[in-house]
Amino acid sequence: MDKVRVGVIGIGYWGPHLLRNLVSLPTVQVVAVADRMDQRLQEVKNSYPQITVTKDYHDFFEMGVQAVAIATPPATHFPIAKDCLEHGVHVMVEKPLALNSADAELLVDIAEQRGLTLMVGHTYEYNPAVRKIKEIIDSGELGKIHYINSTRVNLGLFQNSLNVMWDLAPHDISILLYLLGEEPVTVTAEGNASVFEGLHDIAHIHMKFPNNTLAHIHVSWLSPIKTRQMVIVGSEKMLVYDDVALTDKIRIFDKGVEPLPGNELYDVRCNYRYGDTTTPHFDWVEPLRVECEHYIESIVNGTRPHSDGASGLRVVQVLESADRSLYGSEERLQRMLMADPMRLKSDGARARFP
Ligand SMILES: NC(=O)c1ccc[n+]([C@@H]2O[C@H](COP(=O)([O-])OP(=O)(O)OC[C@H]3O[C@@H](n4cnc5c(N)ncnc54)[C@H](O)[C@@H]3O)[C@@H](O)[C@H]2O)c1
Repeated sequence: MDKVRVGVIGIGYWGPHLLRNLVSLPTVQVVAVADRMDQRLQEVKNSYPQITVTKDYHDFFEMGVQAVAIATPPATHFPIAKDCLEHGVHVMVEKPLALNSADAELLVDIAEQRGLTLMVGHTYEYNPAVRKIKEIIDSGELGKIHYINSTRVNLGLFQNSLNVMWDLAPHDISILLYLLGEEPVTVTAEGNASVFEGLHDIAHIHMKFPNNTLAHIHVSWLSPIKTRQMVIVGSEKMLVYDDVALTDKIRIFDKGVEPLPGNELYDVRCNYRYGDTTTPHFDWVEPLRVECEHYIESIVNGTRPHSDGASGLRVVQVLESADRSLYGSEERLQRMLMADPMRLKSDGARARFP
């Protein structure tokens, strides 16, 4: 079988991880890497002399590149992904798919019309721990899910083109939609712009899912320690997922509460159950490797990737609803973005808010 000829666009922090994984796949030939910064291209050249480097990804279209992986800043995702799809190239783009649902829908439509793969880098959906949790929830072991609380906080890194929700929460939202297998009925958000005026660095997103499941996401660039924790409370058992723990990332608590029969209206006597804590086993594989493999398989087999464009669109829709709630109205959001030229420095953002 011929190898798929791949190009990587954007080689800042995340791009090199994508590049390393793609290079390691036997089904892939990484042909070229594009970045606007000379120094980054030089670093690629030093590590991978066989790969062509360029400052302009348009050169890919003359080099027979069949598929790209895009790891540029979020405001550039839409214009670059659209350009690549319109040149007949398969696209895997980092999260979020785009900065608004109209742009995300357009990307989905173009990919559909041209029969191209469009995949979004919802890395956690390829994480063995998250997949194990999905298996546990689907088995019914936790019972009915009452609520999920997700915390993703650390100090920085402040982004100048988007608030903390668009930076960090795509992960939590994609995990929640994946685990629950449904979309929220309501989304609201509260937050603070503590350091830079108009740039929210702390946010709390509240989501209500069908069947009365509540979810809460806390994201922040203002926390002394890095926390990546998800607490899932079911009617039968409770689960804690700690992504930064070195061992025992998933713990299942056989804990619960059963009401005792009572006659009074406000009689809340109950039995508390304190059972064993177990740590389920799962085999570890780097999630990004699974994601990259899946991208290439989807292209070769002509199958829809798990985190396809529609899944990217759903995450953008939730973020958009959260933004509307956070800022009061969409009009306000646009005014704030227009007022700050720093936020408009990318071509993508300018195109979106002309
Ligand atoms: N899945 C994950 O866990 C994860 C983790 C980190 C970042 N990300 C995502 O990866 C993307 C990149 O984040 P980052 O932290 O690497 O950012 P970064 O700023 O470190 O790197 C972005 C790179 O893109 C380059 N670039 C910008 N415009 C370009 C263009 N038009 N053509 C070619 N190169 C261009 C920049 O020069 C820079 O080197 C973001 O969308 C982010 O959300 C995902």
